[in-house]
Amino acid sequence: MNSEKIEIFDTTLRDGEQVPGCKLNTEQKLIIAERLDELGIDIIEAGFPISSPGDFESVSEISKLVKNAKVCGLTRANKKDIDTAAEALKFAKKPRIHTGIGTSDSHIKYKFNSTREDIIERAADAVRYAKTYVEDVEFYAEDAGRTDNEYLARVCEAVIKAGATVLNIPDTTGYCLPEEYGQKIKYLRENVKGIEKAVLSCHCHNDLGLATANSIAGAINGARQIECTINGLGERAGNTALEEVVMILKQHKDLNLHTDVNSRMLNEMSAMVSDLMGMSVQPNKAIVGANAFAHSSGIHQDGVIKNRETYEIIDPAEVGVNASSIILTARSGRSALAYRFKHIGYEVTKNELDFLYQEFLKIADLKKEIDNDDLSVMMDSFTRKIG
Ligand code: KIV
Ligand code: ZN
Repeated sequence: MNSEKIEIFDTTLRDGEQVPGCKLNTEQKLIIAERLDELGIDIIEAGFPISSPGDFESVSEISKLVKNAKVCGLTRANKKDIDTAAEALKFAKKPRIHTGIGTSDSHIKYKFNSTREDIIERAADAVRYAKTYVEDVEFYAEDAGRTDNEYLARVCEAVIKAGATVLNIPDTTGYCLPEEYGQKIKYLRENVKGIEKAVLSCHCHNDLGLATANSIAGAINGARQIECTINGLGERAGNTALEEVVMILKQHKDLNLHTDVNSRMLNEMSAMVSDLMGMSVQPNKAIVGANAFAHSSGIHQDGVIKNRETYEIIDPAEVGVNASSIILTARSGRSALAYRFKHIGYEVTKNELDFLYQEFLKIADLKKEIDNDDLSVMMDSFTRKIG
């Protein structure tokens, strides 16, 4: 069976940039947008043009710069937002307007003091209006994760009739379980009239740590676009992490789904976004964290030194990391110590290793990590002793 493509919609520059302290200027956004385009991203959400003159300028400049990806601007469901987004996107080779409105009862009541029927009308009107500017219109049903499926299907039907080409089903509050989110996508696929005219898209937040799992469940159930950010940056606990989605689909060929992202650029992309946004990546972050390919316990180190596949499911080179690392701590064993000595130019015999290992443990119990300088000092004092 032929593998089907999942389009990657990157919203690092819009949802990701909403993180407090992560604000970027236009120049920084252009640097990221250019690299995202080279990475193989299908759609770059460049910003929310009406939100500020700076964001308008960024979307406009990104539209001029990007060569391959579609460039998208966010709007609320009103004419002024849509006019502004259309103006900002006018230089884009492939422009997309992303408009939408809250559809959960809580949003309808508290945000809009409105009714379900009125929301359907406003949603369809917004899409129809956006279509007067661009062919490619994506509709988001904000808080779809907490919107009941029957009503959500009616909203979807109305916006498809109005011309929406992509239906974004956001789990805005990160509430859904993977099974539940997957079933929502399946329900829409099976119950929305005209669904074959639109692509279903997953946009999941990470409040319960399930954003990536939910997005994958959505894709398994028929969504063909995933919205995500580099390093999983985003409001509160963040969005689905792009690097995780790409590598899950790459490692699980059994899913028969793929992306066009060049995974070898992921590590570099992560570092660049982290630097420009001033937001460090947690060391244990999947795929791009500093410890993602670091082994520190003796049992694991022994296995990895014999054969990397014993404890690694991804070849580090696949994500642009030079090599796995063997970290020396008080939990490390003899084989790791010998491996690291060899790495700095010392071959040790079994008897020498037995002695050095006891010395190593004394120091390792006092330090978090033993580095190459510590090893050199150990070797110096050892050669003097036997000397
Ligand atoms: O999380 C969300 O619902 C959003 C929409 C504005 C697409 O970011
Ligand atoms: Zn979001």
